[in-house]
Amino acid sequence: MTADGPDDGTFSNLARKARRRLPRLFADYIDGGAHGEHTLHRNRAAFTRWSVTPRGLRDVSSIDLTTTCFGRTWRLPFFLAPVGFAGMFHAQDEAATAHMAARHSIGMGISTFSIAAMEDLVASEADLMAQIYVMRDRAVTRDLLERAKNCGTSGIIVTIDTAITPVRERDVRNGFLHLSRPTLPQMASLLTRPRWLAGAVRQGGNRVGNIDRYTTSRGIMAQARDLTAQIDPTLDWDDLAWLRDAWNGLLVIKGIMHPADALRAMTLGADGIIVSNHGGRQMDPAPGTLDVLPAITEAVGGRIDIVIDGGIRRGGDVVTALALSAKAVSFGRPWAWGLAAHGERGVNAVLELLEREVRDVMALAGLCDTETVRKAGRAALWPLA
Ligand SMILES: Cc1cc2nc3c(=O)[nH]c(=O)nc-3n(C[C@H](O)[C@H](O)[C@H](O)COP(=O)(O)O)c2cc1C
Repeated sequence: MTADGPDDGTFSNLARKARRRLPRLFADYIDGGAHGEHTLHRNRAAFTRWSVTPRGLRDVSSIDLTTTCFGRTWRLPFFLAPVGFAGMFHAQDEAATAHMAARHSIGMGISTFSIAAMEDLVASEADLMAQIYVMRDRAVTRDLLERAKNCGTSGIIVTIDTAITPVRERDVRNGFLHLSRPTLPQMASLLTRPRWLAGAVRQGGNRVGNIDRYTTSRGIMAQARDLTAQIDPTLDWDDLAWLRDAWNGLLVIKGIMHPADALRAMTLGADGIIVSNHGGRQMDPAPGTLDVLPAITEAVGGRIDIVIDGGIRRGGDVVTALALSAKAVSFGRPWAWGLAAHGERGVNAVLELLEREVRDVMALAGLCDTETVRKAGRAALWPLA
């Protein structure tokens, strides 16, 4: 645990660099959570209640991390979570992350609020899925679906935990949403980060490239405010049925925290779910995602693939999640820190650090591939509490 947040695990150096490089309001935007940030802390705390049992004499000379998830095959059991406005963190924008997803042969979600448009990111040849918020204006949602299909993404992720945007105290304190008319203290904060500022100026376009066609507002923050207000709070399961009808490709529901919701999503024809509390940015207080994973796993009974995100910061976290039946893990802040710290090189470092740790833990647990971890299940783990 650090002074103002949960521990950053194997990413602590990159997170520190990101915080030094970014203006305070962007660093806080990445790190922060809703209300008292209890959920944010609980995501990490949940992993501390499990350990992986060491086993010996099992020939671990070859460790294979390949996983098949949502019908896709990835070299590592990792999925880069959709992160809004990530292009603001570094001049190389989301393309840097997509290139690294391609290099490591893993999946990635493109946020609705991506600074780079999905059409520009598919050039990376990464396995990309478009994350979709269902908008009040269904014509916008239909257009997002159309674009996701036409540009060749492998599927869509519908995020269902954002009916409203709760108070995030750090963002309120920093006036994050009012950046379109920066106050003097905000200007001063930006000027203390000249390298970031030079990158932002070089990058030029002050717009949310993925969605700016749906708003007449100008400037990133004004566009973000406008489009956030368009996220439909009346959304219900009937709308999901509509969406299933409107989209005949791979459909994943993100933001599942209850077994009944997991079952409902499955019954409506979802191909997969992401157990997620939005990294502690929405409901507070909520349980940690790992806390609810076993009940959700039991409910769906292996009929659809489950990915989990929230607080994955160590190789041991990944192995624990797989042993509790996740097909893969997903993470947001770690790649955001890597991108902010060093662009493409930073995202690469994040993936290499985590891969190395997963290999260490699997080898010392005598588990040579991801399917073996899942088959071993709780027998590979030692509960601590
Ligand atoms: C800065 C930031 C922006 C995010 N933006 C989105 C988004 O646009 N859409 C979405 O579905 N989830 C979004 N998320 C949630 C992530 O997809 C993911 O659920 C979360 O980051 C996982 O927790 P972790 O950061 O502890 O790994 C965002 C998360 C962060 C940190």
